[in-house]
Amino acid sequence: MDNFVFHNPTKIIFGRDTIAKIGTETAAFGRKVLLVSGRSSCKKNGTYQQVATSLDAVGLEVIEHAGVCPNPTLSQVRQGIILAKTNKVEAIVALGGGSVIDSAKAICAGALVEHDVWKFFIGKKSITDTLPLTCVLTLAGSGSEMNGGMVLTNEDKGLKFGFGNRLLHPRTSILDPGATVTVPREQTIYGAVDAISHVLELYFTTREPQTPVQDRIMEGLVLTIMESCERVLDDETDYQARADFMWAATLALNGLTAAGLGKVGFPMHLIEHPLSALYDIPHGAGLAVVIPAWLSWRARDDPDRLARFAERIFNITGGSGHDRARAGINRLKNWFKQLDLPASLDELQVQDAAIPELADKARAQARIWRMHDYSEERIAKILVLCLKKGPSGS
Ligand code: NZQ
Ligand code: ZN
Repeated sequence: MDNFVFHNPTKIIFGRDTIAKIGTETAAFGRKVLLVSGRSSCKKNGTYQQVATSLDAVGLEVIEHAGVCPNPTLSQVRQGIILAKTNKVEAIVALGGGSVIDSAKAICAGALVEHDVWKFFIGKKSITDTLPLTCVLTLAGSGSEMNGGMVLTNEDKGLKFGFGNRLLHPRTSILDPGATVTVPREQTIYGAVDAISHVLELYFTTREPQTPVQDRIMEGLVLTIMESCERVLDDETDYQARADFMWAATLALNGLTAAGLGKVGFPMHLIEHPLSALYDIPHGAGLAVVIPAWLSWRARDDPDRLARFAERIFNITGGSGHDRARAGINRLKNWFKQLDLPASLDELQVQDAAIPELADKARAQARIWRMHDYSEERIAKILVLCLKKGPSGS
């Protein structure tokens, strides 16, 4: 286990009927706030009204920035920054899923500087201060509600980049599983794949030889995300299943699992993000294609960790390390298939001719993330494994 400092500054208020607390949680930071929300779901499911009533009850003046799209864009964030600056807001409230929360985080940082917010994402500027952010989470999966990460698409450049800074942590996030009962089947599934990928990225990129505490936590999270996702799909109004799923997805990317793992990377996200940037593919759908391909590429030089994962998650014990690794990847692929997730670039309507551009864009992110071993050649090789007609992903 490597040395670590674990400090997560986000206060979580979890449970039934907790949305009404957003007013008092936000009033601690100012009198004028920007409310960032999505396109329509919050108005349809009543969470918008709950938040508006709570903010009003403590006398907050609310400026609206609604309409954030999935795969959130730089242009929408720039509009939000102008609103925040013009109205001199003192805090920001995010009501939605990862796209809304990430946009709100970018506005929190961009509202306090004169340069373009994109400079944070390309390593040209670092964050020294942010507006306070409070959140009401309405979709489980991204983990943005309890971390310092944000992901944005620069639509002019066709780049979807991630950036992290501890000042981007929400001060408070309210997680009411009841707010997620209206999440459609496919969005629930995308959230499950995303949350599982957050665990796999850490589980398979750490170089620490002995991490039994972290491994068991991560394996438990993968098992719970899979099992609670299936319960939600059986009954989308099952509060307990939604609660288990929501909390597991938050824990999957809040720093706890990474503590002690030393240097880790996000290669599957590195390769998926250009798919979302160029083709507007939902993040979880892109990951469903990339994950098995990257795992099979990884198994070639480190079958043992994959074999251990196969045993711990799917009780696969027979055969050589390579056999167990391959069997484990196939089980995960089959689980994705049962959920009607896409299994190849073909199914995402992405042609193999797109691979050089995808690899080039992923390489641009790899440079900023200092993932120097992810050359364009390596990325292209893994993308070929994502093709239906390419060598089988396992
Ligand atoms: O736009 P509306 O009408 O609100 O509909 C949304 C959206 O279309 C809908 N939705 C949200 N809550 C709902 C609901 N529909 C019904 N009932 C509800 N309660 O769901 C759709 C997708 O929302 P989105 O926020 O895009 O999904 P998600 O939460 O999965 O976030 C995905 C984004 O998170 C980023 C991804 O890159 C992607 O852009 N990520 C952020 C991370 C972070 N900050 O740490 C890490 C993740 O790896 C991920 O990359
Ligand atoms: Zn993700």
